[in-house]
Amino acid sequence: MTIYLNGQYLPIEEAKISVLDRGFIFGDGVYEVIPVYSRKAFRLEEHLRRLQHSLDGIRLANPHSNAEWAAIIKQIIAHNTGEDQSLYLHITRGVARRDHAFPSPPVQPTVFVMSNPLLTPPAELLQSGIACITAPDNRWLRCDIKAIALLPNVLLRQMAVDAGCAETILIRPESMTDGAFMTEGAASNIFAVKNGTLLAPPKNNLMLPGITYDVVLELAAANGIPHEVRRIAVAEVFAADELLLTSSTKEVLAITQLDGKQVGTGKPGAVFAQLHALYQDFKRDVMRA
Ligand code: PDD
Repeated sequence: MTIYLNGQYLPIEEAKISVLDRGFIFGDGVYEVIPVYSRKAFRLEEHLRRLQHSLDGIRLANPHSNAEWAAIIKQIIAHNTGEDQSLYLHITRGVARRDHAFPSPPVQPTVFVMSNPLLTPPAELLQSGIACITAPDNRWLRCDIKAIALLPNVLLRQMAVDAGCAETILIRPESMTDGAFMTEGAASNIFAVKNGTLLAPPKNNLMLPGITYDVVLELAAANGIPHEVRRIAVAEVFAADELLLTSSTKEVLAITQLDGKQVGTGKPGAVFAQLHALYQDFKRDVMRA
């Protein structure tokens, strides 16, 4: 596997960073995961826009122009085998003596890009759907930043694995009067379906603005699927006819079990089937263009 590290293309075994890197010491950095289909980065512009948002959120200057990013990404795709790949971009505030405050003057950020095979869900999983659990969303209040500091997400996702499930759906406890609502998954966005209407939580500081989430909403709008973007109460999550999970690597999946109870009929529903098919077509069209 050939990776990119600070201007060099190297075999992954030869890539080394300092133990003083602020990514290692503080988790002080941001990342992106970009799917590649037929050797083309999917929604690159949108991913780079979100990367800029994350960098702005942690007050770190973007080390590259979009044209430079595109060139690095092109090289990494070419250096790695596989038509479909999952790109990982990672930028930290660089190497400095340990001090919480930013290094002054700023140091060179660390820039790392790697490619892994893109493992989209197998047919069995599309047919069965996945099982999820719920848990309180105990993360910070800037979940819109795609920060490399993922310890809460790691612990929340492991809760699902320990329960023999695929993902943890996160619930923000709110004031007693307003009640609790769903934000997203530990590493995914979540939609609900009720009476044929697709419900999406609003993009705000409490969730990562998913690129797949955007595509799904665009596809719903373009294909006359009724949809609403609004806060989804916990009670609505448990009473949903369907629950859907989206991410760059999982694409669109049906959630057929929640906390050990079946969702809707317990089988992937009609809205899932339609959106999954639309997503596959959309992907193919984009790659052909
Ligand atoms: N995770 N929410 C969270 C917390 C995520 O980590 C992700 C993706 C998403 C979905 O975003 P997108 O559709 O842009 O992939 C939502 C990636 C895949 C990861 O960390 O591996």
